[in-house]
Amino acid sequence: MTGFTIAVLPGDGIGPEVIGEAERVLRAAAQRFGIDLALEHFPIGATAVAVAGNPLPDETRAAVVNADAVLLGAVGDPSLDAAPRALKPETGLLALRALLGVYANLRPVSIHPALVGHSPLRPERLAGVDLLIVRELTGGLYYGEPRGKTALEAINTLKYSVAEIERVARVAFDSARRRRRVVTSVDKANVLEVSQLWRETVTRVGRDYPDVRLEHLYVDYAAMRLVSEPAALDVVLTENMFGDILSDEAAVLVGSLGMLPSASLGGGPGLFEPIHGSAPRIAGQGIANPIGAIASAAMLLRYGLKLAEPAEAIEGAIRAVLDAGGRTKDIAASGERVLGTREMGERIAELVKGSTGRPVAAARSAGDIPG
Ligand code: IPM
Ligand code: MN
Repeated sequence: MTGFTIAVLPGDGIGPEVIGEAERVLRAAAQRFGIDLALEHFPIGATAVAVAGNPLPDETRAAVVNADAVLLGAVGDPSLDAAPRALKPETGLLALRALLGVYANLRPVSIHPALVGHSPLRPERLAGVDLLIVRELTGGLYYGEPRGKTALEAINTLKYSVAEIERVARVAFDSARRRRRVVTSVDKANVLEVSQLWRETVTRVGRDYPDVRLEHLYVDYAAMRLVSEPAALDVVLTENMFGDILSDEAAVLVGSLGMLPSASLGGGPGLFEPIHGSAPRIAGQGIANPIGAIASAAMLLRYGLKLAEPAEAIEGAIRAVLDAGGRTKDIAASGERVLGTREMGERIAELVKGSTGRPVAAARSAGDIPG
């Protein structure tokens, strides 16, 4: 079979450390399942500003649009907090998402039983939590125009078109069909016109999915529900900024931001990244949790390359390592033995190499592709 090219963008802070482990696990899966995978590195974020004076250099732009999928670590560097917008690492990430047109960001949240005790929530609240945040990723406040800032005032605009809402809503409803068939759409329709349009449009799209139950929640109440009754949620559909906030809140359920992966899909190459940031305070120490990045690599195989079986092998290996007590610092109880970033990656890679399953050349599955 023909090979795949993955553009790997390690980025800043702990990005290179966790992505190094995701690559280790991808290579193990490629070996085990006979996938011809080329991993090519390109700069983004503060790292790219340092080498090219631009958080998303032309070389990186050209590479990502021609790749089969993009694997990203994290961007962000406190030394650029006060930099002009064009030089901020986050600007590179937003430009990358826009360039790839990845409007639907899927953030699955499920809790490994062994980690239930690690969450600040009571264990009975966490039983059965298995939700999917579908965050609109290329519109809203993040991309509003005009914007501007003087010493006395600043402006950002919130705008969504019907077409932007419809396409991400379809991804949410299609995903719900493969899950428990409930979509919770989150907005602030009691205040914002944009949210009123959001609600009307999602309701209309929902008529095409009579088998899926649709409910609407205001974002403030949704934030509460997410921690008071998380197991009742299936697919949570929301706009860019609300989705950013709710997904960090959802990480509390799991016990660590380091655990959660994401897939951002449009129609071209998909973008796969852990939801955590560059964590500058722990960068370079070899202690970051690589599971979010490794699980993002699994999503890359499933959604980006349509290879479900190696994706499942990686996810199974993560579960098995956690079952066996493997813990990085962020998910360890006091007194528990702690694995470094690399040890965690190595353990998962070893299990992937030994996993059972047919080589993909013999059984290339269509995977589980939303919308
Ligand atoms: C995320 C991050 C980004 C976002 C930042 C780094 C721009 O927080 O992926 O959730 O807000 O989208
Ligand atoms: Mn975020």
